[in-house]
Amino acid sequence: MPSQAGGSRGSGGTGSGGTGSGAVLLDGAGLAARIRSELATDVAYLVSRGVTPGLGTILVGDDPASARYVAMKHEDCAEVGIVSVHAHLPASVSAGELDETIRRFNEDPTVDAYLVQLPLPAHLDEEAALLAVDPDKDVDGLHPVNLGRLVMGAPGPLPCTPAGIVELLAAHGVAVDGRHAVVIGRGLTIGRPLALLLALRRPGCNAAVTVVHTGVRDLGRYVRDGDVVVAAAGVAGLVTGSMVKPGAAVVGAGVSWAGRKLLSDLADDVADVAGFVTPRIGGVGPMTRAMLLRNAVEAARRRLART
Ligand code: GUN
Repeated sequence: MPSQAGGSRGSGGTGSGGTGSGAVLLDGAGLAARIRSELATDVAYLVSRGVTPGLGTILVGDDPASARYVAMKHEDCAEVGIVSVHAHLPASVSAGELDETIRRFNEDPTVDAYLVQLPLPAHLDEEAALLAVDPDKDVDGLHPVNLGRLVMGAPGPLPCTPAGIVELLAAHGVAVDGRHAVVIGRGLTIGRPLALLLALRRPGCNAAVTVVHTGVRDLGRYVRDGDVVVAAAGVAGLVTGSMVKPGAAVVGAGVSWAGRKLLSDLADDVADVAGFVTPRIGGVGPMTRAMLLRNAVEAARRRLART
């Protein structure tokens, strides 16, 4: 495994975990499969104690991408033994009817955790919908109460993508504690909560964190100092090899599309310089999905503890 930034450049080579360019691949697909298998064992235990974890999804309208994302969540649930509960509302649904469905999920004891799939049609208020979700059933970890818990370092469901990135780094032996992590992007779902998480005094975190964004002058000046760099801007090829400290761990978390092709925030030449790098596909995405399942299982564990 390569030494990290500050030491000599990696020698990951083209062997197991290699990228063909020297950097070790941060294999989210493989790690997520292992996490799902562990979660299946946890679910079997919960079922044996009379608690079958249930994950709910509320989908409004017929956006094909949203429908596909929701279907994938149900497939993941089936793999680990979590029961899916789905509500599909028409695009024309009123705010009151959506609120009624959210209330029903809040009160349904078989729904341990759930999400309202975003984006919602323009006539509906996303913030109001997120606020109406019971924070203890918030599988996304994005309810203001849970973001507040994150700020406080208190237990609660973590936002899935930030949690998945921290797991991905830890599982590949990337040193974060005491190192400099540069987060590019300040969005609600990735950059902002990830910066908070990385700065917490907890295993796999405890970093010096810098948050930058695409409006920052001379972005490379900041990125070049990162031992860990997470790009979550949604700008294809934003981070190039020339911006990366040799041996650094570089995570592409933002995506954009060219037609049907998924593009990474990382340019291909990042792998020539980095010690660790995510693949274009099979890096952060599968980890986000695995963390969603973990949040659902944790919510079911809380149900068991209450009974
Ligand atoms: N839309 C796209 N991804 C997500 C997600 O992870 N959660 C929610 N609620 N909406 C999404």
